[in-house]
Amino acid sequence: MRRTTIILLVMMGFFISFSAISWTHAQEEELILESKDVFGKKQRPAVVFNHEKHFDVYPDCIECHHIYEYNNGDMENVWEGDEQFCSECHKLKKEDKKMPLMKAFHENCTGCHRKLGKANEKTGPITCGECHIRKK
Ligand code: HEC
Ligand code: HEC
Ligand code: HEC
Ligand code: HEC
Repeated sequence: MRRTTIILLVMMGFFISFSAISWTHAQEEELILESKDVFGKKQRPAVVFNHEKHFDVYPDCIECHHIYEYNNGDMENVWEGDEQFCSECHKLKKEDKKMPLMKAFHENCTGCHRKLGKANEKTGPITCGECHIRKK
């Protein structure tokens, strides 16, 4: 069902705006980011990520989600709303063009927070302890 709907919407050119509206209610509000498959025993407490709060501010899913395809040197993001875990592609060490998982998260999360902070916009945390929160 999902795939046919998506193909139709892409044809209609509405994909991104539609997915933002229709998926907001389908996703878990809070995700605990653990990636146990890659990190195993972790050094820091797992990060709680509020998906919903983020796409209230950033309805454009492809700020974070991607499946890149390469055509004649051009890189295209062909992600279509499928369930996705970053650790499917980003592993403990760099593989091909894919940076290590920790770096992928830090560059995405902290990178955006820092950029918005510099532009004096509403933003999220950039210090370790504000994301990796120790339970009391
Ligand atoms: C600010 C970054 C960010 C934005 C924006 C974002 N996501 Fe995510 N999303 C994530 C992260 C991080 C995960 C968890 C990945 C992991 O655990 O490896 C995730 C997980 C998911 C999952 C799988 C887990 C679940 O809850 O079912 C789906 C599906 C998903 N996102 C869809 C979307 C859609 C649709 C949008 C746009 C409305 C969106 N995401 C916007 C970062 C984001
Ligand atoms: C289907 C495989 C795949 C998944 C899943 C995936 N990535 Fe990537 N990611 C890549 C590839 C390939 C690149 C390298 C693109 C290039 O530069 O050629 C990349 C690049 C990046 C970059 C560098 C900036 C950019 O966008 O090019 C960041 C940051 C990143 N990924 C974070 C994430 C995060 C966070 C998630 C989970 C929400 C995620 N990735 C999920 C394959 C994936
Ligand atoms: C595209 C920009 C962007 C990306 C990418 C992004 N954030 Fe944020 N984040 C924000 C903004 C904007 C806020 C402020 C939201 C608000 O206060 O309503 C925020 C707020 C937060 C907060 C504090 C609010 C809360 O949820 O309690 C946390 C924690 C957070 N982000 C974690 C993360 C993590 C972890 C990732 C990566 C998986 C991430 N963010 C990726 C823009 C981003
Ligand atoms: C904006 C949120 C954010 C900030 C700030 C942040 N991290 Fe992370 N970090 C993450 C996310 C998301 C992951 C991947 C999911 C997880 O393991 O919880 C991660 C993963 C890690 C990992 C690998 C997993 C583990 O626990 O062994 C380490 C180590 C780490 N971070 C250390 C740090 C340190 C040190 C700082 C400060 C310099 C920092 N992080 C700042 C979000 C953040």
